[in-house]
Amino acid sequence: MPVITNIDDLKRLHKRRAPRMFYDYAESGSWTEQTFRENTSDFDQIRFRQRVAVDMTNRSTVAPLLSQDYAMPVALAPVGLTGMQNADGEIKAARAAEKFSVPYCLSTMSICSIEDVRAHTDAPFWFQLYVMRDEEFVDNIIGRAKNAGCSALVVTVDLQILGQRHKDLKNGLSAPPKLTPSTLLDLSTKWAWGLEMLGTHRRTFRNIVGHAKSVKNMNSLHSWTAEQFDPALNWDTIARLKEKWGGKVIIKGILDPEDAKKAVEIGADAIIVSNHGGRQLDGALSSIRMLPSIVEAVGGQIEIHLDSGIRSGQDVLKALAMGADGVMIGRAYIYGLGAMGEKGVTTALDIIHRELDTTMALCGKRDVTSIDRDILLVPEGFEGRWS
Ligand code: GLV
Repeated sequence: MPVITNIDDLKRLHKRRAPRMFYDYAESGSWTEQTFRENTSDFDQIRFRQRVAVDMTNRSTVAPLLSQDYAMPVALAPVGLTGMQNADGEIKAARAAEKFSVPYCLSTMSICSIEDVRAHTDAPFWFQLYVMRDEEFVDNIIGRAKNAGCSALVVTVDLQILGQRHKDLKNGLSAPPKLTPSTLLDLSTKWAWGLEMLGTHRRTFRNIVGHAKSVKNMNSLHSWTAEQFDPALNWDTIARLKEKWGGKVIIKGILDPEDAKKAVEIGADAIIVSNHGGRQLDGALSSIRMLPSIVEAVGGQIEIHLDSGIRSGQDVLKALAMGADGVMIGRAYIYGLGAMGEKGVTTALDIIHRELDTTMALCGKRDVTSIDRDILLVPEGFEGRWS
């Protein structure tokens, strides 16, 4: 077993252990993948100010997200098909999050259902909603999330239609995988994955199957999304969903100050600055570059979380210093899950926590809630002059 010291180590193991179509699903952006690449390379442009001879005893990374304290302001993002990276993946990730004391957010497009996750965890989790054309299904799934005691509804607004990801189309992505000659060849080298998968009955989209009518091809994310996601989604629909839910609402997929203001207007409790990990509009700017203008537009009225590009505790710290109240990690924990199941998710959280804590100390800070722009060196024109 290799010594694991960073998120890249987990990524290498994930690639080795999970079927190629699922690793590729996680590791893709849309079209040229420019936005996917820049999400991480833009973080690399930001540097820290080294401060010395500052007492670094009694440090704390505890911070609130939606008025609840967590071990660090890092939530596990909703990721479709998580239970295909490793058997019962959503349950494993939710358990790891609960033990670490960070929020877990379950995707509509998960393999384990809301009820599956509820039955195997104690801490309330967040539920991410994709808005479908079938209103009855949407009302029903909101009711199911309420019954499961979910503590926030995360409404994704940047995926009414799916951005094209070449690898998924070429690999014939489906859940469970179709047994073609090339999949079988790939699976023959991933036997541990296969054995675990044979040991579970959770192998398709269990939030949907048995709950949505007129589903023709549930195995394929692409055809199902095209048939079912509501392309007419607008702010009025979001306001209606908020009423129906009656609890905390987070709007996920905001990348523009004008849209951030709309989220404030409809009374959202938080937004997630995100370009969906570079998986939707290729050519959009990175989340970290767009963050400052969104922070300014929101003016402290609601919480701002950020995802897309976080691969280390240093990235977490940079996002906080640029004005985010919290972040979400997606791929960073999915690599861990694909590498080693629940233990891998815990390892990913440990790595990120250690990097966050050490970096904060070396910047002369002891409390993550006191982090501000002062700890950073940001190149002039970082946000860019775009017109
Ligand atoms: C779904 O959320 C996806 O990005 O594939």
